[in-house]
Amino acid sequence: MPNETQDSYLPHPAFAANVNLKNQDEVYRHAAADLEGFWAERAREYEWFKPWDKVLDESNKPFFKWFVGGQVNIAHNCLDRHIKTSRRNKLALIWEGEKGDLRTFSYHALNREVCMFANILRSMGVKKGDRVTIYMGRIPELPIAMLACAKIGAVHSVVYGGFSVEALHGRIEDSQSNVVITCDGGWMNGKVVELKKIVDEALKRCAMIEHVIVVRRTGQEVQMEAGRDYWYHELMVLPIARGNSGGNRCETEVMDAEDPLFLLYTSGTTGKPKAIMHTHGGYMVGVATTLQWVFDLKEEDRWWCTADPGWITGHSYMVYGPLLLGVTSFMYEGAPTYPYPNRWWSMVERYGINILYTAPTAIRGLMRFGEAWPNRHDLSGLRLLGSVGEPINPEAWRWYHRVIGKERCPIMDTWWQTETGMFMITPLPLTELKPGSATRPFPGIEVEVVDEAGKVVPVGEEGYLVVKRPWPGMLRTIYNDPERYVKQYWSKYPGYYFTGDSARRDADGYIWIIGRVDDVIKVSGYRLGTAEIESALVSHPAVAEAAAIALPHEVKGQAIHTYVMLKSGQQPSEELAAELIKHVGHEMGPIAKPEKVTFVPQLPKTRSGKIMRRVLKARAQGLPEGDISTLEE
Ligand code: WTA
Repeated sequence: MPNETQDSYLPHPAFAANVNLKNQDEVYRHAAADLEGFWAERAREYEWFKPWDKVLDESNKPFFKWFVGGQVNIAHNCLDRHIKTSRRNKLALIWEGEKGDLRTFSYHALNREVCMFANILRSMGVKKGDRVTIYMGRIPELPIAMLACAKIGAVHSVVYGGFSVEALHGRIEDSQSNVVITCDGGWMNGKVVELKKIVDEALKRCAMIEHVIVVRRTGQEVQMEAGRDYWYHELMVLPIARGNSGGNRCETEVMDAEDPLFLLYTSGTTGKPKAIMHTHGGYMVGVATTLQWVFDLKEEDRWWCTADPGWITGHSYMVYGPLLLGVTSFMYEGAPTYPYPNRWWSMVERYGINILYTAPTAIRGLMRFGEAWPNRHDLSGLRLLGSVGEPINPEAWRWYHRVIGKERCPIMDTWWQTETGMFMITPLPLTELKPGSATRPFPGIEVEVVDEAGKVVPVGEEGYLVVKRPWPGMLRTIYNDPERYVKQYWSKYPGYYFTGDSARRDADGYIWIIGRVDDVIKVSGYRLGTAEIESALVSHPAVAEAAAIALPHEVKGQAIHTYVMLKSGQQPSEELAAELIKHVGHEMGPIAKPEKVTFVPQLPKTRSGKIMRRVLKARAQGLPEGDISTLEE
């Protein structure tokens, strides 16, 4: 075991000399002493149509409200605010396609595109509060669609392009969207992902979709249903798109700070994925503040968050955060190793990336190809590195630090969740780092590590990670299921937010995240629920029951292993196992494909019929099975 108290890294002096936030300790103190004053000061950095009356309203716990009475629109702060300034002609977005094609958007050009598309959505009858599902590859039209929704007050629900038919269908249905925005296909690893075809299949399972807008990306043949499906590029030349001033005119909807901005589905302990709801006001303040301080963003920086906009990291730190700060972002369409394992490093060099924010799984994946690939490139533009999604193993941390950051760049290991909306536990640029620890809570955030009874556990011992005070970027509810919101997050320890993670605190107060304590699996940093994988398996005619567990995996972090009980008359075979893996891929998406299917005559269950995944996991790893007193005979 590494020595956790000595193995630490101070910021490089050349880096430290140029950090914006020099008075870190003072900031922590201010936030701890005056939470509302602290966040109010941050909020005043942005434009409000009407100032708030109250920073934090705790009168209806746990339905906290932030910046109550304030009026704002996050899209206004991402675009309208900048085009009035010298940022107007600055690049907002640089995008490279997998095949090497390049597109760039200045703030002015991005705003134009967003206004035009927002006019189209309005003309289709999309109003404030309506839900719009977005299901696309990683192309500029994805953030454009999100911003257009925000601008007119519609609530976007982005479904990750790596999900498939049933996952998409469930999310469209649950959000009651009337419009889907997609593309013909997407490029990934040199192959086409047939997004429109998946949309068509999902829509056969649900009826309420009125319009489908299709961006042409790959140019492959797709079916367009007359009266329902429209090409984006055809709509965008209509006078309606250009508005009455040739493209820059589209009224930004005035929103209440607490009005919903988006739904994002995520996997939880049981049952179907839940729609986490975030708002315009608090989310904006939380995301912008954390990005600005943690990554020390400067006006001239080029920022690259490698996440897909289909996940929270993409929402907060690929789309909204950088635009709120007026910086230049880079976005890449395809796979990190296409056509060779130097693709990322080549782009870091060519576009002069200063800050790279990615996931441990990507680092481990690229590490496998050796140092020669990154060493062929000039990475000297890099100033800071970031990590998110799962605990980073010290080996990957050190490689990232030495080979990519040349021992000059600190690594910001940011712990947070879809639900938190923003970084929660993270270093600031001058924090002393320990590989594998996300260090300390962000200013204004208070966490604790507690035992089953809610008692603080001693230093060094494992316990449940809870958050003790509300924060502006917090989820407000689970869409259409406020009871589940209360039960899932606020009931285990009344007054505290339950994260679902276990952690320990060391003698310096640093937090070490251990992992999920529920049935959430992190495959390559992607969050999946055992329940979804199991229900995909059970939807196959040969399967009676199924259980999914996570086992450690060298690159992916965790991999899905499944145990399947067949219906009587069905015979286990290798072909059937392969078919079941394919079936899960078809229903859920390639990321959810099990690593392995094991046929079993029965599954370990409690007497009340609950599958004991814990027992399966212990058996698979040859570990003690623990307390099995509730195991059925
Ligand atoms: C895990 C991703 C350790 C954690 C932003 C959390 C991490 C879950 C880290 C949320 C980190 C995220 N160190 N673990 N830096 N970041 N996690 O909702 O288990 O996709 O609960 O949000 O990822 O996953 P989600």
